[in-house]
Amino acid sequence: MKIQSGDRGPCNLSLLFLCAVCLGLAAPAASAQAVPPASPAAGAGTVVKRTVARPWMNRTLPPERRADFLLKQMTLDEKIAMVHGVKPIPVKGYVGYVPAIPRLGIPALTLADGRAAVGNGAKDITLLPAPIAASSGWDVAVMGAYGRVLGREQWLKGTNVALGPTIDVVRVPEWGRTFESYGEDPWLNSRMAVAEIEGIQSQGPIADANMYLTMQQESNRQVEDSRVDERTLQEIYLPPFAAAIQEGHVGTIMCAYVKTNGAYSCENQYLLKDVLRTQLSFDGWVMSDWGATHSTADAANHGLDQEMPDDKFFGDKLKAAVASGQVGQSVLDGQVRDILVPMFRQWLFDKQQPGSWSANARSPEHDAFARMVAEQGTVLLKNDGGLLPLGVGASVAVIGAPGGTAPRVEGGGSSGANAPYVVSPLDGIRKRAGDAARVSYADGGDLGAAASAARNADVALVFVQTKETEGSDRPDLELPGNQDALIEAVAQAGKRTIVVLNTGGPVLMPWLDKAAGVIEAWYPGQEDGNAIAAILYGDVNPTAKLPLTFPRSAGEISTSTKEQWPGVDGRSLYSEGLNVGYRWYDSAHVQPLFPFGFGLSYTTFKLSHLVVEPAKQGGPSGATELVRLDVTNTGKRRGAEVVQVYVGHPAADREPPHQLRAIAKVDLQPGETKTVTLTLDKRSFSVYDPAAHGWAFRAGTYEILAGTSSRDLPLHQSVAIR
Ligand code: BGC
Repeated sequence: MKIQSGDRGPCNLSLLFLCAVCLGLAAPAASAQAVPPASPAAGAGTVVKRTVARPWMNRTLPPERRADFLLKQMTLDEKIAMVHGVKPIPVKGYVGYVPAIPRLGIPALTLADGRAAVGNGAKDITLLPAPIAASSGWDVAVMGAYGRVLGREQWLKGTNVALGPTIDVVRVPEWGRTFESYGEDPWLNSRMAVAEIEGIQSQGPIADANMYLTMQQESNRQVEDSRVDERTLQEIYLPPFAAAIQEGHVGTIMCAYVKTNGAYSCENQYLLKDVLRTQLSFDGWVMSDWGATHSTADAANHGLDQEMPDDKFFGDKLKAAVASGQVGQSVLDGQVRDILVPMFRQWLFDKQQPGSWSANARSPEHDAFARMVAEQGTVLLKNDGGLLPLGVGASVAVIGAPGGTAPRVEGGGSSGANAPYVVSPLDGIRKRAGDAARVSYADGGDLGAAASAARNADVALVFVQTKETEGSDRPDLELPGNQDALIEAVAQAGKRTIVVLNTGGPVLMPWLDKAAGVIEAWYPGQEDGNAIAAILYGDVNPTAKLPLTFPRSAGEISTSTKEQWPGVDGRSLYSEGLNVGYRWYDSAHVQPLFPFGFGLSYTTFKLSHLVVEPAKQGGPSGATELVRLDVTNTGKRRGAEVVQVYVGHPAADREPPHQLRAIAKVDLQPGETKTVTLTLDKRSFSVYDPAAHGWAFRAGTYEILAGTSSRDLPLHQSVAIR
């Protein structure tokens, strides 16, 4: 059987029906709250009648024409009212609000946070696993469904601008918002961003890609100045935003708190004008992060369209600046038009939203989806001697994170949400083990009790965690408190120890040799315990892969000097350049603890017969090369492998050794072989040329490598690209 990259493996080996629904392959249940199908312009609503006197209400006209008609009718005050939020917000819920203008039929803008769930204190929502977990599935179809669930719940809550996704490339592993992001690779982040944005926008709300652009640390985030060269900016940090605009058609972008090369993100002419408008032809609006606007004329003239959450700079001050000519009338018109065009494109003038903040957005389908994403995102890092999956008869000691029985299922800050329930690991494991095995529990705060629980069980499961949040970076990569000591004590006492990590990013593992098994479950959302039990007992065969590198020691990371992070005198030097994440480990010849792209399965796979050949003209989306190879399941269980294709440039290009450019998730029965075809586009063979301020295609001899992690690439072929 032949499959194409972009075809997908299983969302889940145990929830096939749900899988079909999440892909839009099967009709969803009639309930308005099923996992939404992948249909464009979904979102139920009443069509508002157009009137002849209001030509902008003519739905048959293009959004740009409608915006132009409307703009002509707006007074100065009405225009000013569109370009800032109001405080206090006159309706319950929402973190940002722009009032309606009934005279012209302009609906209010209702903005709510939502990275893993509708946030801002909303009730009756689904807490999905953190985005880093969803991205660990390396499956764009699952990420698309993730966006659809979020978009659907936002829409049911009356939100028409969904604040998310967070698509920044992770540069600093200590970054407090790593869990909100997709990982360290520009290409993988781009694929995930497009899928999630399309998913959100298919359900009604406008998505908001954030945070633009050099938002790679929380330390000093209100003043930090990222000093970064143009090539690095373009090749590493920009691609997810470029993809969000050009492929995902995102309606709005949030400019970040930080500065880039001396100018605040929300008044940075290079970022907002030269890049967004001229280079990428972005035709939506730029809104500031909350309190990230620092000026009136500079911000407006340099490309900020909307101040959030209030009117400190874009209220009376902007009106005065327009009156005095400091800000041209055409600039203000442009700002308003940038906001109106995506509003028309998303049919916000034409549909009445069904929901309100107090509406129920939950459904059994969304609960099941939350579990499926957690299972898909759980990475098996170590499994000595095939200890996992657990046999049903094995007695198990569950040892909780010190100081509490509450599992850590989400990160903190603006992405925090009210989980409707949380299945704890203990409950999930007890339910799954049933009467067949003894399951004991010990609080990890008492090392003696934990050790004795481990001694009396066949297997000890230690749950450890980090508390990661917006607003602060982790001080280091260690597990906080006495968790390392806890693992050591349990490993010494027990026969076999499995460590389950609930972290938003990498941690150091000084105890790794003593643990028989290690699982990265990230922040797994409300279905935590059910998902981890399904992985532990083998109901689900793990398929996830790390979207970022785990280092061996604190010094062995690309940003190990204080000049790089957290910065000196308010400046962070991006001196590692292109060598971010695995690119640095490869170019510095440093062995990571667990490499980017790594993740085990309960079965084994073999890749063979690599063939790279030029794509025929008119190949899929600008493909220049086709990569074909066979994948075989050489083990005894059904499973899915993520085939990863990396490209190595000619030495003269001065690129990192190899970079991810294509993936395919392949589902295989034991003994089965499939031939996979992946495509490499023109960008795979291009570099950014700062002298010409543009991307340049480079002919030359490239190395095409295929394998199952950035450090396991058994197949390779040199190809001459002309
Ligand atoms: C965060 C944004 C968020 C906003 C509104 C800011 O602190 O950086 O991501 O959307 O708050 O809650």
